[in-house]
Amino acid sequence: MSRDAWSGKDVLSILDFSRQDLEQLFAVADDFVERPDSVEKSLSDRIVATAFFEPSTRTRLSFSTAAIKLGAKVIDLSPEASSVMKGESLPDTIRMLESYSDLIVMRHPSEGAALLASEVGRVPIVNGGDGSQHHPSQAMLDLFTIKRLKGRIDGLRYAVLGDVRYARSATSFLYGLSKYSPRVVYLVSPEGLRIKSEVKATLDGFNLETQQVEDIEKVLDKVDVVYMTRIQKERFPDPNEYERVKGSYKITKSTLANAKDAIVMHPLPRTGELAYDVDSLPNAAYMEQARMGVPVRMALLHLVLGDRKR
Ligand code: NCD
Repeated sequence: MSRDAWSGKDVLSILDFSRQDLEQLFAVADDFVERPDSVEKSLSDRIVATAFFEPSTRTRLSFSTAAIKLGAKVIDLSPEASSVMKGESLPDTIRMLESYSDLIVMRHPSEGAALLASEVGRVPIVNGGDGSQHHPSQAMLDLFTIKRLKGRIDGLRYAVLGDVRYARSATSFLYGLSKYSPRVVYLVSPEGLRIKSEVKATLDGFNLETQQVEDIEKVLDKVDVVYMTRIQKERFPDPNEYERVKGSYKITKSTLANAKDAIVMHPLPRTGELAYDVDSLPNAAYMEQARMGVPVRMALLHLVLGDRKR
């Protein structure tokens, strides 16, 4: 299988990858899930750097785990314990990291930070989230999870619920879906959290039609996948606006009574919008989704960095 689409490439947005590229990634990830004992240490002479300027549990640790499983060493820039605290700029920080490592996974509160890093740096940059804009590896693992649990991505009915405005996970998921042919995509969010017009325009450009609906209960029995998000409190320009929308949606065991076979996904962390009583239902897919972060990120690192000549 050719690695050209991935080899040495920055991973800034899922929009930069074709459906065929994604299928290649999923095939490698599938192999890592199905045959864990035969994983080759394709990164054994590599160093992967993580640089997270925003909190992270799953993305940072699953990338580190993925790198270690492939034989790489991992170094971590903890911004609060680094010269970032002395006022060092992002470009200077990236220049340092690239001289110590072969690939940088980064997360930053500013939109476009990963793009800026990729312009400064010579090593591949993997965007682990830039503000409310992109989170490509999250969308890749989301689609992979759906493929594994539902057998396909095409032809399914989706509801994206919650903060479709500020959640980069929701936006990136929709961008990912635009590479496929879903039967229908409902967007369910309170008024202040609806999709940004520029994101809608991008989706329209890829012929991904979305339908805005008011109430999740109205579509729960009509969908195969519910993709939820946390309200992204930290991204609101006006704290009063957050106060207005907080607590405006919630999925519980009783909400899901009509959901039949719909799987419930959530990039996590959850902060009240997804009740703990859902965990025991067969619909709950979010822990499996989080687990799939490791094989998908292994596949990504393997395709970008594995076998690559220095
Ligand atoms: C998401 C993120 O950081 O965008 N978390 C994650 O990577 N799993 C979702 C969130 O913070 O709500």
